[in-house]
Formats: sequence, C-alpha cells, structure tokens
Amino acid sequence: MVKLAPFEVEQWMDKYETTPGVLNIAETCAASLSIADLAGIADPIVSHDGLSILPAADPLSALATTKLTYGAIRGSLTLRQQVIDLLSYDSGDSVKSRNNAISLGPEFVIISQGAIAANYLLFYTLLGPGDHVVCTYPTYQQLYDVPRSLGAEVSLWKLRADNGHVPDVAELEALMLILNNPNNPLGVPIPRAVLQSIVDFARARDLIVFCDEVYLPLYHGGPVDLEQDTRRDSERRSELDATRPPSIINFGYDRTISTGSMSKAFALAGLRVGWAVSRDPEIIRAMLATRDYTTISVSQLDDGIARYALSDAVRRPLLQHNTALARKNVQVLKWFVERWSSRGRVRLSWVKPTAGTTAFVKICTVPKSEEAGDNGDAEDDGGAGSNKEEPVDDVAFCLDVLDKCKVMMVPGSKCFGHGEDFKGYVRIGYVNETPVLMEALAKLDWYLEEFLA
Ligand SMILES: Cc1ncc(COP(=O)(O)O)c(C=O)c1O
Repeated sequence: MVKLAPFEVEQWMDKYETTPGVLNIAETCAASLSIADLAGIADPIVSHDGLSILPAADPLSALATTKLTYGAIRGSLTLRQQVIDLLSYDSGDSVKSRNNAISLGPEFVIISQGAIAANYLLFYTLLGPGDHVVCTYPTYQQLYDVPRSLGAEVSLWKLRADNGHVPDVAELEALMLILNNPNNPLGVPIPRAVLQSIVDFARARDLIVFCDEVYLPLYHGGPVDLEQDTRRDSERRSELDATRPPSIINFGYDRTISTGSMSKAFALAGLRVGWAVSRDPEIIRAMLATRDYTTISVSQLDDGIARYALSDAVRRPLLQHNTALARKNVQVLKWFVERWSSRGRVRLSWVKPTAGTTAFVKICTVPKSEEAGDNGDAEDDGGAGSNKEEPVDDVAFCLDVLDKCKVMMVPGSKCFGHGEDFKGYVRIGYVNETPVLMEALAKLDWYLEEFLA
C-alpha cells in the first residue's frame, strides 16, 4: 500500500474552515467570485463599427443548451489555447506576448481538476523508486510528500533568509527540480535571473524542472502606501510587468513542466479546473496515458466557465481586480505587522510578500523585563531574532485565536515544517474581501493585547 503522510494543511482547512462565524484568513484563494461577478467585471464588447457597446456574452446561456457528453477528453481546445496564451504573456494580464519564447499549441496542455490533480498526475507518471528529486521548502506538502510516497528520494531545498528566500542553485543535484513560484506560504517569487540559472543548470544535466505556478499571474509587488504613491495605475502596472517572473515554460528548455489553475489568482476554486503544460511531447504523452485511468475529462460546465474567465474580455479586468485587491490588502497587513513588530512582549516579523496570496508571519514573545513600546523593523531575519525572543506555540496559538475570536489562520510548524521547522509562524491568506481581513486583524489585535502583550 502506498504510504502517504497526512496532508496537514488540507486537514487543518477541512477541520476548521466551517467553524460557524469564522473569519477565514487561512484561505489561499483571491476572494472568490461568482459567474455574475465575472460578467460584471468583463470588458464590454464594442461592435465592429464602433457604434454600439454590448455587455460581454453570458457564459451560462451557451452552456444551458450544451449536451452533457464527456466533452473534449484533454479539455476543450479553446481552454488549452488560452492556457498557452496565459503562460506566454510575460505580464500575465496585459498585451499579448511581449515574450514570444513559447510557440506551443494546445496539444502541450492537459486540463485537470485543479493544480492538485495535475501535480499528482505528473508525479505518479514520472517518479518512482531510485529517482532523486529536490523540492523547495517550505512549500505545499504535496510537492515533496507525494514523490516520497512513490519511493523517490526527496531532498529539501531550503529557502534561506540569508538568500532572500529564493533557491540557491549551487546546492543542486537531482532528477527533477520541484519549484513553487510564487511560493506558498512565503509569498516570495523566484526572480527571472534565478529561474534562468536553474534552467541552465537543469539543461546541462538533462533534469526535469517542474514548477507549481498555481499563484502565478498574481504579482502585486509588495506593500505600497497607496495614499502616498503618486504614480498612475498604468505606471505601477508597467513597473510590475518588468519584474514579474515568467512561467518556467518560457525559458526555451523542453524538460520543463508548469501546473496552474483557476483557483488562486482567478478566484474560481469552485470550478476545479487546472492544467499541466510541458514543452516535452514525451512527458505530455506519458501523463495522458496515466490520466486515462483517473479522469476521462473535466466537467464541460467547468471548462466552459474557465474559457469565459480566460477570454480577452474577462481575463485582463479579472486579474487587475485581484491584483488591486492583493496590493490593497497587503498594505493593511503590513500596518498590522509593523504595529506589532515590537509592542509590549510581542514581536511580529515577516517576509514581505510580493506575489501570490499568502504571508508567513512569525510571532514571538520576550520576557516581561524586555518589554518595548516602540516599533522596530518587522523584516523576518530567518529565525535569528533577539536571543530573548521565544516563538509562540503556533498550533496552540491558532486554536486559541480561533476559539476566542473566530479568526482562522494556519500554523506554520504543523502544516509546513513537519512539526519541527517554522515554529511560531502562521500563514495568513490576505487576498480575501478587505472588510473580512480588517475585521480579522482587529480581532487579532484585541487578542494580542489581551493575552500576549
Ligand atoms: C502550491 C499549491 N499548489 C496546488 C494547490 C492546489 O490548488 P487547486 O487544486 O485548487 O488548483 C494549492 C492549494 O492551496 C497550492 O497552494
């Protein structure tokens, strides 16, 4: 029997996210949207003669008359082409293809039920006993524990604070390199230059580079005080476009695989649509042969709504909407972390997130004699801290906060550190509705004041 370790973060979510009245800041999706929301966000369609403006097409009416066959086995052609287009936009949300590095057709895309199924499929297809993989850490537990369950030897590639929480290529040796970009839980992306050196390293040794890019086009650049920031929206966006890391598929190396989905950046987790893309026809063929045993096809309804969300009229405004939400909320979270960076006995620090939907915040306390009233630097030093600082018991802390104020977070050591690493860390998902985040942080503020400060 295949032995799989319990998937801690998924079990934590399952157990606590239905707590009545919960303020969920453990969630990793951008605030979820409905089909009606998508239609409201969509750019209107301007008629060919430019004289009339029509609302964007309603995806449901077309689907209402679709016969519910299995549909296209690998996912509809349109959706698969949209995925290629999405990954070949350097910027993810703006003009088509400044970077024409990928000229792949839809046959290089497999549609799956979420990125989680795409990840499982590729591990199950490509790995077995005797294989050695290196996986960035911390990350989503699936990315190292599934390879381990299949008999592969797994080395954890630690994302060290002294290297800016990006992988150091000098430490590498394996069959497959497993990346997660942007990273969950850190919210830190791997910059283009580092991706390039990883691909160069892999190419020289014929290694597979697999990158879980489920958070990919959501790149907001980190906290910016929007009231102080005088730049125009378009200026801000082009600055972000210049630094946004591209998909691993864009580096011209065939043995690369990207997985992604509609869940996080597109706020449509309920669709259960994800994908795997590889430039290597042999990898695609092998994965399809495995998938025949588990999937047949994804729901035509899900495929149809995903096509609508990735259509030209919707994709751009949708990503802009979610990026703006991420940028606004990360600033709210920054105020909170800085307020508590050194207050009474509490010391909060973090790795300032610049992408994705999550932040990894470390919570420590100092003895009463070390109390302070002023705010220090909240930047995480990777655990060094002052030697008087003690990380809180993150599991007990999360449970007590949930109990006393109905605010849900994810404990770092349990869900990302095998109970040993990342003690005192909590993962906060901050790209939810701003009032939910603010209410949750106000309650957390009360809790810290009352019980820890
Ligand atoms: C890094 C990572 N990969 C994959 C997934 C699975 O996402 P989905 O199956 O909804 O696309 C998650 C969900 O939290 C994740 O954080």
